[in-house]
Amino acid sequence: MLPTLEWQGDVIVMVDQRKLPGQEIYVRCRTAPEVARAIRTMIIRGAPAIGVAAAMGIALGMRRSTAKGTRQFAVEFQKTCDMMAATRPTAINLFWAIDRMKRTFAEGAHAGESPDELAARLENEARAIHDEDVASCRAMGRVGAALVPDGARVLTHCNAGALATAGYGSALGVIRAAVEQGKHVAVIADETRPFLQGARLTAWELLRDGIKTTVITESMAGPLMRAGDIDLVIVGADRIAANGDTANKIGTYTVAVLAHAHELPFYIAAPLSTIDLSTPDGEHIPIEERDQRELTHLGSSRLTPVGATIRNPAFDVTPHRYIAGIITEKGIIRPPYTESLRDAFGIIESARH
Ligand code: MRU
Repeated sequence: MLPTLEWQGDVIVMVDQRKLPGQEIYVRCRTAPEVARAIRTMIIRGAPAIGVAAAMGIALGMRRSTAKGTRQFAVEFQKTCDMMAATRPTAINLFWAIDRMKRTFAEGAHAGESPDELAARLENEARAIHDEDVASCRAMGRVGAALVPDGARVLTHCNAGALATAGYGSALGVIRAAVEQGKHVAVIADETRPFLQGARLTAWELLRDGIKTTVITESMAGPLMRAGDIDLVIVGADRIAANGDTANKIGTYTVAVLAHAHELPFYIAAPLSTIDLSTPDGEHIPIEERDQRELTHLGSSRLTPVGATIRNPAFDVTPHRYIAGIITEKGIIRPPYTESLRDAFGIIESARH
């Protein structure tokens, strides 16, 4: 399986997703600031992968800490968490993972552990977050594969694959699972302007697995739907609000509206860690605005005239009414989402007690 990121001794190694598919280069992060920079600059990207990387980065930072005494160690831990939290604002998995690391720290501190013991505890938690992410992708695959008929042509947007998670993928995990069940599935990958996650990453990882993939520009999705060349849509998510409104890569909203107009099912595949019940609706999801250079340039070549005003929101929000179902590791969540999302968490809460 494609390793998105892994520990190698004292370093975290991740494939540089800015360079794929032309070059397969592995970046070695030795410090927490290096991991934060990798997230910010999109060496690693995709909501679940960002969360896993942040947890591993925090653990790495604290393992290398030279703090004298628990008090100083706690101050350093808080600063490291703040640094990770400032990397990318939309993907809720980032904040979910940081909160989990904070709870882990608090448990150890409460038990009177030394800095070395706390660091070991944090590393165990980061490893658990990594492994659980792969497990939840596989579970989402098992759950979602039932929605993919044999012979289906599935449109996806951005990259919600192994590269966007600790492994296997959310939306692409569902497709992988359907293929593993012996179904013939063809994927249509939107190129995903401006960072080209679909053209570069989705196509690369699916072809590596021998899954038939056609890359299109996003403006081709409508005509292909109209021609009857697409059967369903499955995409990932960066944050799902309490009413089911879902933030995902810019362009997803357009795809959802098109799917609705052509009466095609539009599914989100996302782990429960992407659901944010504290955000009431899509209006309240912070949308990251990224560097204009992602639009103005292709590599070192300038595309737009100097002086043109540029907007580069990295995500958009799909209103819940366009979403036929949310595929999670615990099952498919259906409308009405305000009730069903709350119920999904109720089940988890009661399983914990
Ligand atoms: O800006 P990116 O590449 O981090 O955006 C990624 C996406 O929008 C993905 O679709 C989303 O994070 C789901 S990944 C399983």
